[in-house]
Amino acid sequence: MSKPLVYVSRVPPPAGMKMIEEFCTVRAMREDRFVTRQEMLEGVVGVEGILCHPPDKVDKDVLDAAGPTLKSVSTMSVGLEHIDLVECKTRGISVGYTPGVLTDATAETTLALLLATSRRLKEAFSAVVDGGWGSWEDGLYLCGKTLFESTVGIVGLGRIGLAVAKRLQPFGVKKFLYSGNTKKEYDAEVQAEFVSLDRLLQESDFVVACCSMNKDNAGLFNKTAFRKMKKSAIFINTSRGVLVNQEDLYDALKSGTILAAGLDVTSPEPLPRDNPLHSLKNCVITPHIGSATMYARNAMAELAARNLIAGLKGNELPSPVPS
Ligand code: DGY
Repeated sequence: MSKPLVYVSRVPPPAGMKMIEEFCTVRAMREDRFVTRQEMLEGVVGVEGILCHPPDKVDKDVLDAAGPTLKSVSTMSVGLEHIDLVECKTRGISVGYTPGVLTDATAETTLALLLATSRRLKEAFSAVVDGGWGSWEDGLYLCGKTLFESTVGIVGLGRIGLAVAKRLQPFGVKKFLYSGNTKKEYDAEVQAEFVSLDRLLQESDFVVACCSMNKDNAGLFNKTAFRKMKKSAIFINTSRGVLVNQEDLYDALKSGTILAAGLDVTSPEPLPRDNPLHSLKNCVITPHIGSATMYARNAMAELAARNLIAGLKGNELPSPVPS
């Protein structure tokens, strides 16, 4: 019996790829770079399944290019902004994603950025190699800001936001605030208070973006938002780069409107090396490594492969997108 043909836009870790190769005939982008739009449009022609990642768009044009054989789309991500879910539903194509297995890893990355920014690690690492180490400055050399007794505002108390709050509890955070579309039943687990975004921005010492991207929140963190924050506030983003107006963030960091920022996501990605944000000592940037632990990436790959194969077989998906 012939195996179903699938297109893989970026090869996942071996745990998932092996499962896909056993069950499917694979057409894959195997180079260590993002697939181009044209390659994607050509690659999907006549396939029954697509395994993708953000930012490889699976929109109407890609679905049209694939044609009526397409049954199953699986993304190795929790983010879904690259897939036209409505169009997939209309065409009866199943869509799976990989939430849950990357929650702990992404929460850890968020904490790493909170500590790197609050304890000025970018400056500290540089001081060790550039000769700055040795100053004392009345005992205030490289002093940062503490999480102890602070107010942490989480924009989006979903799985990852909650995991961040739980990890921060032992640091002695005084209060958690959160904003979002709805109050969450489980906010009691971390005694977090549901507030408006404005109040969160005004009262938080640390503002942490953990929300998913939607059609309304591009540029949410702009000049107006940064001006509402405390001058001593630290802003962290482990969600999506497009939530931030990066020119406004640069101005806010340069002028002291806010104290520092830690970004695991930018727009675009990779962020060009000449982007002015790189020149700021109070801006720590990591290359979208939120889920980059061996455990999380292997678990994501396996779950994405199981979703893809279940969709090809017409079975219930282990992890379907919310309907
Ligand atoms: C996700 O899973 O959405 C991560 O951000 C990786 O893209």
